[in-house]
Amino acid sequence: MIQLKNIVQTSLPALILAMISIQSVAQEEPTYSKDIAPILQEKCASCHNPEGIGPMPLQNYSQVKPFAALIHDRTSKRIMPPWHVDTGIGIQSFKNDASLSEAQIDKIEAWVLAGAPEGNPSELPEPIDFPSGAEWQLGEQLGPPDLIIKSSPYDVIANGQDQWWQPSVPFEGLNDERFLRAAEFKPSYPLGKKVVHHGHAVLVPEGGGRSVALARYGVGKSWEIFPDGTGMRVPANGNIAWNLHYFPVGAEGADDVVEVGLWFYPEGQTPEKETIGEAMFRVDGLKGMARGQDIVIPPHGYQVLQGTHRLDAPAVIHSYRPHLHMRGKVMTMEAIYPDGKKEVLSQVNNYDHNWQIAYIYEDDVKPILPTGTILQFTSVFDNTANNPINPDPEQWVVFGRRGVDEMSHAWVGITYIDEEQYVQTVAERRVQQETLRIQ
Ligand code: HEC
Repeated sequence: MIQLKNIVQTSLPALILAMISIQSVAQEEPTYSKDIAPILQEKCASCHNPEGIGPMPLQNYSQVKPFAALIHDRTSKRIMPPWHVDTGIGIQSFKNDASLSEAQIDKIEAWVLAGAPEGNPSELPEPIDFPSGAEWQLGEQLGPPDLIIKSSPYDVIANGQDQWWQPSVPFEGLNDERFLRAAEFKPSYPLGKKVVHHGHAVLVPEGGGRSVALARYGVGKSWEIFPDGTGMRVPANGNIAWNLHYFPVGAEGADDVVEVGLWFYPEGQTPEKETIGEAMFRVDGLKGMARGQDIVIPPHGYQVLQGTHRLDAPAVIHSYRPHLHMRGKVMTMEAIYPDGKKEVLSQVNNYDHNWQIAYIYEDDVKPILPTGTILQFTSVFDNTANNPINPDPEQWVVFGRRGVDEMSHAWVGITYIDEEQYVQTVAERRVQQETLRIQ
């Protein structure tokens, strides 16, 4: 109260000055050594190291200092680390969340505004070992793969247009049909990690039958672990149809090979639920008509497209991976339930074609959808000069495979279940949520 009286008697400018100095004493200036290095180590260095896919290493003060302003820009706009899902709407709990927290973004900002001071190097965090890109990322969790399949070698060119490499390789190594638990797609390291833009390894069974997509890859999505009790049926014989999209980046290399690691359920074990893995949900044409026919984006203009898909059986959704090209900005996935209720499941509002990120839901938030649910996808394209990666706003843009043409579909990790399993899965979720609430 005494203080209050003093303040009342002080002039306003003096008061403001006093408040500012109180604040700066209370909040010590962040420094690189103490505050920023731990963030960069945890959230950036796995790519921003000399062999990583990031354009520059960010592992010590002299490397980081010249980029301070750019780091501030990219992190405050949530462009880096690459994680482009809307943090304001839809499911927010992911197994592979790579994003910065608001507090971390604020800390980087405060540090840059303070002149990016180094601080005391004795406060630096212990260096951590991150797995090299040459190792299986799932290795630590699952051990070495049960089976590794390889593409046939390809000579990577340094410069030029998009390249497609589509060898067919016999599938060997299984005696009997098995159920897949997890798969990882591993381009060579470091070259392949930089030039393989996306790829699929699809098993075409001997004697016909439905093809099985063992692994799908995009920069930002390299592995898939199915939930406990869920697996993908893999026949023992056939051929692997590889579909590899190489995008030259100025580095060449002979005999590049892509590997896929496969982890199976034990021999003879049939998991409760059979999944088809990632399924494509189109947003670019009416069913039964030419693919991509709906994409017509005017010069300096926008287009909004919607695609709806009715689920003919109940389903659990594991992951969401929108696919657009350079004009793509937004893709929203909504569920319209049979009772009419509508809900946004996920929205990528900051799409960047350089990244094909699968947003993998935590087990306790995976959508469990009843028969008759409509999945509705909405894509927004921006062909104006405001879109920083637009190669040419003067062009009309239509469907095509090249990055400068457009596409619009979502890869959704989905397991269809029967009505009985649906009732059971919903009941299990209730128990899960109840337990969480009590904890
Ligand atoms: C998954 C790999 C990955 C992670 C994690 C990552 N980056 Fe990057 N970063 C890249 C790649 C690749 C590029 C260049 C292509 C692009 O901009 O998408 C890039 C570009 C940048 C740029 C722009 C460089 C330029 O010259 O234009 C900055 C700044 C940056 N990153 C900072 C960060 C910071 C800070 C973090 C962590 C908070 C981070 N990145 C996390 C891969 C990554």
